[in-house]
Amino acid sequence: MARPKELSATFEAAPNIALVKYWGVRDPGLVLPTNSSLSVTLERFRSRTHVRFDPELSEDRVTLNGAPAGPGPRDDVVHLLDRVRALARVTGYAEVHSRNNFPMASGLASSASGFAALAGAAAAATGLRLSPRALSRLARLGSGSASRSVFGGFVEWRAGTRPDGSDSYARPILPPDHWPALVDLVVLVDRAPTKQIRSNEAMQLTVRTSPGYARRLMELPARLRRIRRALMERDPRRLFPLIMEECDSFREVCETTRPSLDYLTVTSRAVLGEVRSLNRGAARPIAAYTHDAGAHVHVFTLRRDLPGVRRRLARLPGVLRTVALGPGPGGRLVRGSGPTGGGRPRE
Ligand code: PMV
Repeated sequence: MARPKELSATFEAAPNIALVKYWGVRDPGLVLPTNSSLSVTLERFRSRTHVRFDPELSEDRVTLNGAPAGPGPRDDVVHLLDRVRALARVTGYAEVHSRNNFPMASGLASSASGFAALAGAAAAATGLRLSPRALSRLARLGSGSASRSVFGGFVEWRAGTRPDGSDSYARPILPPDHWPALVDLVVLVDRAPTKQIRSNEAMQLTVRTSPGYARRLMELPARLRRIRRALMERDPRRLFPLIMEECDSFREVCETTRPSLDYLTVTSRAVLGEVRSLNRGAARPIAAYTHDAGAHVHVFTLRRDLPGVRRRLARLPGVLRTVALGPGPGGRLVRGSGPTGGGRPRE
């Protein structure tokens, strides 16, 4: 008797760091943002996710780096798998194993890379042949920022306006080799607290309670256009101050959220101060800080300034390590068939 075809696939994707932050949801169920965002997908670090649908299973089984996933991340995985089951008309539960080639202590969150890899693997396993755009929409359901990790280089996620989310997906705007001189120095700080509240919930609190949120929302379209333009023109003098302006705006609405969302440590704040002082000393912007909902700081600079910037930041008390990363490629299918296979993919 012929064995039924095994529904399994492995996909990998990289983390990204946002230059314009996604912070605000208009529909938490569909993960629809209140604003468009822009990020850089990073090189070297990857999440690799294997998905296997198995009719014998009585529930979805999820492991992250070899350990069973906690209830929050597991719910998000199941939410995304449910969407794949509905689209592919597949019944049955799945086994999901996801591993990062970077430690949690690398300062990079794995939710964007992990959910982009999960979307790619689950779609491929079920034979869903999705366009990159549709894959981005699917990844969005796991974690908003994952919609951007589907692509490499510089990526923009347009918020969209449709209530069903069909126009809310990311697209690549510039390839990874667009600006080889640009580098992200990840500055890892000591005693970074673990996240108390998930981003999806934290940002809803900000929308409801931060008095500065409405103003931020009004400022964002112009700031995003200016950042996009400075990237296109490879212009650090304009780009670096804008990256910091955006980071400061994000931090301000977090800190004025009730209860306050304070992601930084004393050391993170010292890193921000040192970058400001480096720029003042150089009489031109030579570096730009940004951070996500965590204490580690990403410092953008040019390769020629990297040794000097690194020396200044690495000696600050509480800085554990620095890792320099350039822009990297998008997600790719490692094993299985599916979105990258032949024929015309569906939108
Ligand atoms: O994708 P989420 O739900 O983990 O939220 C990401 C939020 C930020 O990292 C702070 C900003 C961003 O755009 O990546």
